[in-house]
Amino acid sequence: MNHKNKILDKPLKQIKLSKSIFEITSNHTVNPDLTVIFGFGREFLLNGKKMVKSAEITPVVDLSLCGEYHLLYNQKGTFLLVSLGQKNEFNLANYLKSLKNISNYIAKNKNIVRVNIILEEQISNILDCELESYIEQTIVHSINYLYYFDEQKSQAYKLALKQVNFISKVACESIIVDAINIIEGIFILKHLANTSANVATPSYIADTARNFDKLSKKVAVNILDYKEIKKAKMHTFLAVAKGSAQEPKFIHLEYNGGKQSSKPIVLIGKGITFDSGGISLKPSSGMEEMKYDMCGAATVIGLFVTAVKLQLPLNLVVLVPSCENMPSGEAAKPGDVVETMSGKTVEIINTDAEGRLLLCDALTYAKKLNPDFVIDIATLTGACVVALGDVASGLFSNDDKLADEIISSASQTGDKMWRLPLFSEYHDMLKSNTADIANISNAKRSPGCAIAACFLENFVEYKWVHLDVAGTAFGNSIYNSIDYQGATGRPFYALINFLRKFAS
Ligand code: BES
Ligand code: MN
Ligand code: ZN
Repeated sequence: MNHKNKILDKPLKQIKLSKSIFEITSNHTVNPDLTVIFGFGREFLLNGKKMVKSAEITPVVDLSLCGEYHLLYNQKGTFLLVSLGQKNEFNLANYLKSLKNISNYIAKNKNIVRVNIILEEQISNILDCELESYIEQTIVHSINYLYYFDEQKSQAYKLALKQVNFISKVACESIIVDAINIIEGIFILKHLANTSANVATPSYIADTARNFDKLSKKVAVNILDYKEIKKAKMHTFLAVAKGSAQEPKFIHLEYNGGKQSSKPIVLIGKGITFDSGGISLKPSSGMEEMKYDMCGAATVIGLFVTAVKLQLPLNLVVLVPSCENMPSGEAAKPGDVVETMSGKTVEIINTDAEGRLLLCDALTYAKKLNPDFVIDIATLTGACVVALGDVASGLFSNDDKLADEIISSASQTGDKMWRLPLFSEYHDMLKSNTADIANISNAKRSPGCAIAACFLENFVEYKWVHLDVAGTAFGNSIYNSIDYQGATGRPFYALINFLRKFAS
């Protein structure tokens, strides 16, 4: 690019997606390989000729992804007309489906290097959201749908794309910067979660986090090693870690973007880099998926980076207890009784119910920080997958207002959370013969995700939300692009949306 252009053009913003790099701009590229135009109804597709303003248009391909797409060629280029259906039936979920199909089409088409996406501003009215929010969502979701993971392949996935331009009448430079900061956090999450467990060990995650103090003077990083974890009396966390050859790490990140007097928000993420079940060994089928058992940790780490980059005016602490759950001669055994950091004792009846054993110590550690409130995020129970599938994350809370705010922040970003109860009857099911409480319930009919949440509640002395993301954080989900299975990035966008609203 020559000097003159540099002054005229708004600065270009780069995104690194696995091994590829491309730009996101708000500029109108003169000769795009594809121009995406949104409209409503079949009439819009039939009127495509007018839209593209050319006499010589031949509909060449009807993508028919939802029966609502038309691809038109003329001398001015290629136009993808996307009908979003009837206005009165339109909603955010439909819109996301369309964005997914468009991103998939772009990723698959090796001739598409530069794309113009013409934003349809009336969509924000129909969705009843701010124009800025509609533009940001379009950028974040469509780029997220382009994601694939080739970092551990010898051959890079061939993405021809070099530039995506989101075009609208409002000046959207600052929206693009925000969107890119959000996408970066999501891609950090996906990188950590998708990387295999032999590479993404507790030390690897700690080393990633160690660099974050370069982001801002307002950031402090503290990583506790085995000795320091022991000194802090997190014996229950160590009871999980001791079966593994990998050293456990307790990551403590601080961002002081708010007033000195304001209490911090604490985010805790379950950081089990591999969950074999320990001595209560899991069946081998599907066990490879347990590298994702650190999706909670990846989420809070990504959120931290984005919160710092967005310079949110709040004080934020991120805590990640990270270790492997492995069987060995030194591993914890069923029946072992361990003292938690809080002083309460726990009988480990099942070593595969390990997440709660690290989280309980992190929840106790959080109390020292005098938090405004605490949110923990964990791939905690298979029972939550049975209850809600990959449709919604399970949400548990001791505070109605906080719970409602987080659920509504999620729905604004197209994500779902569903509140489940913390009944005292469930607490009663955690009785132990030998310790203060057991780590699982022996009751014949017990709701596993609520029992786990109640276990955690024993260690909570502040406003608190627990998110069980076992069903939503990874897999072959509608939130992932068509050929990609892995970390979904949920509920990252929901939570950054919540934090941003909270800070404003
Ligand atoms: N990490 C698992 C939960 C999980 C299951 C996450 C499926 C993602 C997908 C957790 O540590 C676990 O093993 N939970 C047990 C608890 C049981 C032993 C009470 C479970 O859900 O089976
Ligand atoms: Mn487990
Ligand atoms: Zn686990």
